[in-house]
Amino acid sequence: MKVSEALDSRISCRAFLPDTVPAKTIREILSGAARAPSGGNLQPWQVFAVAGEALDAIKQDVAATMADLPRGEPWEYQVYPNPLKEPYAARRFKCGEDLYDLIGVTRENKAGRRDQFRRNFELFGAPVGLFVYLDRSMGAPQWADAGMFLQSIMLLAREHGLHSCAQEAWGQWHSLLTRHLEPPKDWMFFCAIALGKMDETAPINRLRTDRAEVEEFTQMFGFSD
Ligand SMILES: Cc1cc2nc3c(=O)[nH]c(=O)nc-3n(C[C@H](O)[C@H](O)[C@H](O)COP(=O)(O)O)c2cc1C
Repeated sequence: MKVSEALDSRISCRAFLPDTVPAKTIREILSGAARAPSGGNLQPWQVFAVAGEALDAIKQDVAATMADLPRGEPWEYQVYPNPLKEPYAARRFKCGEDLYDLIGVTRENKAGRRDQFRRNFELFGAPVGLFVYLDRSMGAPQWADAGMFLQSIMLLAREHGLHSCAQEAWGQWHSLLTRHLEPPKDWMFFCAIALGKMDETAPINRLRTDRAEVEEFTQMFGFSD
């Protein structure tokens, strides 16, 4: 598979088949993704790869805890700036609306939107969850490094016939994850990745999000052609 094919076919998959993924495949993906560059070659990422009963236990714990904490725990980091400026706010709004349109959940249907958001905590049915942490001492440059690592995982997943969904939403269950995964105290949860085979029949997986044109985010100087 060409890099461009992996890039084009990677989408955020929000409905997976239950088919398991062998540990060997997960190791291959992680070992390949570890070739991602990082400033000073710090390789600041830490991963918990979780499947089977261990993953079920996490999902069940979230489902049970949600009764008392419907909005989850207080976040350890702020996902979006508040307020979110334009054009970013409009982009965020549109991708949300496009997703809910696709599955027929109207703006007024708050329960439907909540239910869809809660599917995050079932990893959208994925058989594997990768839970990515960074040492708390790391700053913005290292978080960017971790982003490159995440994208590398998601592209290599395509090469293995798998799909993925990055999930910051799990940040609202960081203490619950700590109870299950027992990371060292100086690690901070960043993001999960749901990993598995896509359910090709699920309407939600038909979402193709927009991208700005190159001219909207690039200034070019000094080219003669
Ligand atoms: C770091 C990161 C965290 C994300 N967190 C979530 C999430 O919690 N739940 C979700 O459904 N999608 C999540 N997404 C998916 C984005 O909404 C998605 O990447 C974006 O809308 C572009 O769509 P695409 O991935 O299908 O190209 C996340 C993506 C990234 C990169």
